[in-house]
Amino acid sequence: MISKLTSDKVKERADIVEVVGDYVPLKKKGQNMWACCPFHGEKSPSFSVSPSKQIYKCFGCGKAGDSIQFVMDIEGVGFQEAIRHLAGKYGIEVEEDEARTPEQNLEQNERESLFIALNFAKDFFVKNLQTEEGRAIGLSYFKERGFNPQIIEKFDLGYAMDGWDYFLKAAKAAGFEEDILLKAGLILQKEGDPSRLYDRFRGRVTFSIHNISGKPIGFGARILTKDKNQPKYINSPETPIYHKSDVLYGMFQAKKAIRDFDNCFLVEGYTDVISMHLSGIENVVSSSGTSLTDGQIKLIKRFTNQVTVLYDGDAAGIKASIRGIDLLLEGGLNVKAVVFPDGDDPDSFSRKVGSQAFQDYLKENSRDFIGFKIGLYQEEFEKNPIRKAEVIREIVQSIGKIPDPIIRSVYTKEASGLLEIEEEIIHTELNKSLIKSQKEHFQKAKEEAEAEEKLEELVPSKNLLSVEDTLRIQEKETIRLLLNYGWKKLDDEDLHLCHYLMSETADIVFFTPVYQKILKIYRDSLSNGTIPTTDFFVSYSDAEIRQEVIDLISPRHEVSVHWLDRHQIFITTESDDLAGTAFKSILRLKRRLVHKMMDEAKQKIKSAEHEHFDADKVYELQQVYFELKKVQLQIDKELGIVIG
Ligand code: CTP
Ligand code: MN
Repeated sequence: MISKLTSDKVKERADIVEVVGDYVPLKKKGQNMWACCPFHGEKSPSFSVSPSKQIYKCFGCGKAGDSIQFVMDIEGVGFQEAIRHLAGKYGIEVEEDEARTPEQNLEQNERESLFIALNFAKDFFVKNLQTEEGRAIGLSYFKERGFNPQIIEKFDLGYAMDGWDYFLKAAKAAGFEEDILLKAGLILQKEGDPSRLYDRFRGRVTFSIHNISGKPIGFGARILTKDKNQPKYINSPETPIYHKSDVLYGMFQAKKAIRDFDNCFLVEGYTDVISMHLSGIENVVSSSGTSLTDGQIKLIKRFTNQVTVLYDGDAAGIKASIRGIDLLLEGGLNVKAVVFPDGDDPDSFSRKVGSQAFQDYLKENSRDFIGFKIGLYQEEFEKNPIRKAEVIREIVQSIGKIPDPIIRSVYTKEASGLLEIEEEIIHTELNKSLIKSQKEHFQKAKEEAEAEEKLEELVPSKNLLSVEDTLRIQEKETIRLLLNYGWKKLDDEDLHLCHYLMSETADIVFFTPVYQKILKIYRDSLSNGTIPTTDFFVSYSDAEIRQEVIDLISPRHEVSVHWLDRHQIFITTESDDLAGTAFKSILRLKRRLVHKMMDEAKQKIKSAEHEHFDADKVYELQQVYFELKKVQLQIDKELGIVIG
């Protein structure tokens, strides 16, 4: 347990602006500082930090608290760990009331235990570098690559001994449970004999992977021989504290520089990151050899909107990895690119030419993505005009990914100049490509909607009622409530059920003619100041209406439970809760109505697509469909809440 004195010191010292500022860029507006909330996605800031009150509060998601609460929330740790973290930040010595016993280790929640285990492993690997074996093998390898002691410390580089269980033994001696070490991905079970455990990382140099507050959450371990039968790197697996798709190697060491330079260099490997630091460039992260994910792009966007992708010099490799650029563009980032001479990566090139020349090279060769992409294909299409058309299409597709229309038009101009074609032609292509991606988007939404509908109506298809049938039944239900209880007051409220139902159906025309007629008669009567009685309807002149009303008010009007189940139709059985019953009934009616409209929109889209292709019309109808889908989801949500 951390002593009271330590936690008091931390509380006193931890300034909310500094603490929050480590995670999100804060902007001063009036008394307070503002940012986009790190706890929920948003485009305009509703997250505020008050320096005078020393608290944060998000008006969007409601999260609020002091610096310690903030660390607990953002790191997903408990109070003790948050104090420890802040003590580290401010260089406050942590005083423990008692040394941690193995029992206390057990008591920690799992995440905290994993953090502690990973940190223990980091320390272990770092210390190994000073052993005889570590110095002879690990340290000499790093030296050969030009890594100095400062950089080794900065990146927590280490060495895993060449043996089966050096780490396992040390960890067990320190009180760690095997279970946690397994969950942390630090040890493995022998295949066929799970009781035999051994170290995951053996005889390799280790690269610690940190989360953005500097805690080790995993490792990459590089082989030191040229053995082609072994993988070059062995990496930690996914764990509860290491979600690979949300992590970028080097982000902890880079975040301040990224913010200061308002740019983030993106490289391939661990060693590229480290070499760039050695060349004096600190705003660099690595995707660790995989293609970028949305989570990683979001992470970058917390610090800057500008990414410069550094590519190794072989054209084939670039073309293979160029998809990454589109993803960055889609994420709304400005993208630049630098290509190194053939055969070089940032690591080898920086060592070859030295810091200054390397930095100059980056400045002189960084091009925006349009120039970069065109340059990549220039030679090809100068020889082959058909290829040029393909390149144009490819460029246009990338421009189409950019969410901001103004930036899109800037790039359109540039592309027109570089490709020497009229802007108008690019515009036309761009529109085609936008419609195409709209279409794909729509197709996906449609498939999802259909899958959802299938799930919802879990019945053999021959029993499926049509959209019209279910709508008719739901209309019938509304009329039945109206006729039987229209005169009743809703509980606690001075409101008749019929007025409520009338206001809710004010802009609806019932699909079934007879129900529409009854509704209209009821409405007319109300506007003359009388609530019509059932007698009034029973003696009505129109035989169809008479028949329907008699049917609806007779007590034997019941539906079998079996029938209900089969068609997944909700017909309310009135309880004392008339208000709730009516509310649900109306929602269900509206839901069916929306379904019907969605159906109609789909039909119209089909005919606009196939019978007489009309892109504008398709686009317009798609918008209608999406709006309806939104309404349906909203209703579902409300129904869920009411039913739940
Ligand atoms: N990588 C991996 N597993 C492998 C190979 C590569 O996880 N078997 C990842 C690592 O994150 C590595 C990155 O892909 O850093 C780039 O790979 P590579 O260029 O081969 O490695 P470098 O780290 O650049 O190592 P070196 O400079 O020694 O070649
Ligand atoms: Mn490399």
